[in-house]
Parts: sequence; structure tokens; C-alpha cells
Amino acid sequence: MNQEKHIAIVGATGAVGEEMLNCLAERNFPMSKLTLIASARSAGQTRTFRGEEITIKELTHDCFDGIDVALFSAGGDISLEYAPSAAMAGCIVIDNSSAFRMDPDVPLVVPEINPEAAKTASKNIIANPNCTTIISLMALSPLHKKFGLKSIIASSYQAVSGSGAAGIAELETQTKLLAEGKEITAEHINCYPTQIASNVIPHVDVFLEGGYTKEEQKMLFESQKILNLPDLKVSCTCVRVPVFRSHSVSITAQFDKDVNVAEAKACFADQPGIKLKDDPDQEIYPVPLDTTCKDDCLVGRIRKDQVLDNALTIWVVGDQVRKGAALNAVQIAEII
Ligand code: A2P
Repeated sequence: MNQEKHIAIVGATGAVGEEMLNCLAERNFPMSKLTLIASARSAGQTRTFRGEEITIKELTHDCFDGIDVALFSAGGDISLEYAPSAAMAGCIVIDNSSAFRMDPDVPLVVPEINPEAAKTASKNIIANPNCTTIISLMALSPLHKKFGLKSIIASSYQAVSGSGAAGIAELETQTKLLAEGKEITAEHINCYPTQIASNVIPHVDVFLEGGYTKEEQKMLFESQKILNLPDLKVSCTCVRVPVFRSHSVSITAQFDKDVNVAEAKACFADQPGIKLKDDPDQEIYPVPLDTTCKDDCLVGRIRKDQVLDNALTIWVVGDQVRKGAALNAVQIAEII
């Protein structure tokens, strides 16, 4: 990225948008100007970036003139409506929503896995994958290179940050009410179908025909696209848990080749973006708090699966807001 790029964040006041701002600052991202964009509700508010106060602008179809790269994180409907206007204005959109991910002309990129795909953005739009998919593939991609990935059976333990600022606020409110011995009533339940504090909910995104949810099918279709494995089989159960930021995923992965735990662990020796934390004898394994507000994902509990041939069962953890969203988008901006 040359020094002269003008960058924008669309959805700058949201959980992911705020983290994009942090990532740009921490990584000393080279840019000539930063524009912050949100809804009319936030227009006029300010945010500080590199010691400078920036006034938030309202999102409009003609607000993209002169902007080179726009990081979108304001939801799928906003992306569908405004990303084409940005692209038409010559701006490269890096979109965090699911709106364009399965468009064959839109690359779906995890920079550590398929950076070359980012060079083929014929529509001026690059999609940032689903958070659970990114975190899972950070662990599976090095194993795939060694053993050849064939199928995935996974259960996710997803933080409320995946529902944006509203999800975080809902868990905070409900946790406080429980601590005070007060009742949680319908007025405190807005983001999720039922209470999230002191509970787990096997339901992320909408249900589709066949009984899987849209989130679970993202793991299937997005993994196939990112790894360029159209025959990859995936069966996933996505679960919302009362954790603020980091997602965890339990994965049983079957491979073409015979697997070996020591060789599997060695795959993570010099791997960017993921570290091994795996010493069961010492009760050492990754937990969500280990990765919260951190860039790297952690993998552990690597063992030979007892049911399937050529299979490993693993546990991977990553900060949903960072590697699952904001950081991955900023890394894409760095490589284009
Ligand atoms: P705003 O704060 O002005 O509503 P989150 O996913 O954390 O809830 O964040 C959603 C982000 O998307 C926020 O920055 C929010 O801005 C932005 N957003 C929501 N609706 C619109 C809209 N109609 N136009 C522009 N930005 C929007």
C-alpha cells in the first residue's frame, strides 16, 4: 500500500468499526487521510486517531469521492446498498458482511491463507470471511497443507461480540442483573431468542431448510471457497455462549493422508497468526480470555480422533472482533 491512500471506515461507531480504528493505529497503517462514516445518528460525533480528532460523516451514496479503500462493517443491508456506489466511485471495498462473500467475482480472503485471491477484485469488492470460518481455517489451513483436508465436523462457542455492540451490551446488562439478584425480563432480551447470561444458545443467524443455520452453512461454503476445495464436507453446530469477545471452535477434521499428532503440532511452528498452546499434562490449552484483544489465534488439544480414520480433533480460539473481523480486513488492505 503506498503512502497516499485515503482510507474510510463505514460503520466506524460499531464494535468492529472501532476495532478497525485500533488496528489501523497499532499497525501504523500508511495513509494520507482517514474518513469515518456511520449513520445520521452518529454524524457529528468525533473519534481520535493518531492524536487527531476526526468528525464522523453520514453514509450517503456520494460520500466515496476520493476514497481509495473503504472498510465496511455496518451490516449486510448497508453493504448491499452502498458498496456498489463506493466501487463505482473507484474505491476498493473490503466488506465484513456476508453480502458478497459467495459472489464468484468477489474474492474471499484470509491473508495468511489465500492472499493471491485479493488481486482479483474485478468488482472492486473483496469480502472478509465469517469470523468462525476465519478462526477455524487459521488452524485447519496448515494441517490441510500437510495432510489434505477432506471433511470437518465442528461445534463453535461464539462470543456475543459477533452480534455487534448490541450483543455486548445485552450480556453486560443481564450479567449485572444476575449479580444483583434481579430478574431478567423480556425488556432485557433483544439480541437473542432467549437469555444469554448463564446460558448457551445453539442458534446463530437464521435457520435454513434442512435444519442448519445460515452461520453453520457459512462454515461450509466459505471454507470451500477460501481453501479452493469444492468437495470439502462440513457439518457444524454454531452456539452462542456468554463470552464477550473470543470465539472457540471444537473441530474434528478428516484428512486424505494418515495423520500424526507430533507432525500436526509441528505445522504450527512458524505459522503467522496462529500459535500452538498445547500441553495437556500441564493443563495448558487455549481459552477465550487468552486471545481477547490479541491478534494471534491459539490452537491446542490436538489429538488423534478415536472415531474417524486419518482424523484429528482440535480446539482453536481467536478474538472474533480482531482476527475474526477488523484485523483480517486491515490485513487485506495491507496486501492490496
Ligand atoms: P451508528 O452507530 O450510527 O448506528 P454494530 O455491529 O456494533 O452494532 O455496529 C453497526 C455499525 O453500523 C455502526 O457503526 C452503525 O452506526 C452502522 N450503521 C448502522 N445502520 C447504519 C446506516 N443506516 N447507515 C450508516 N451506518 C449504519
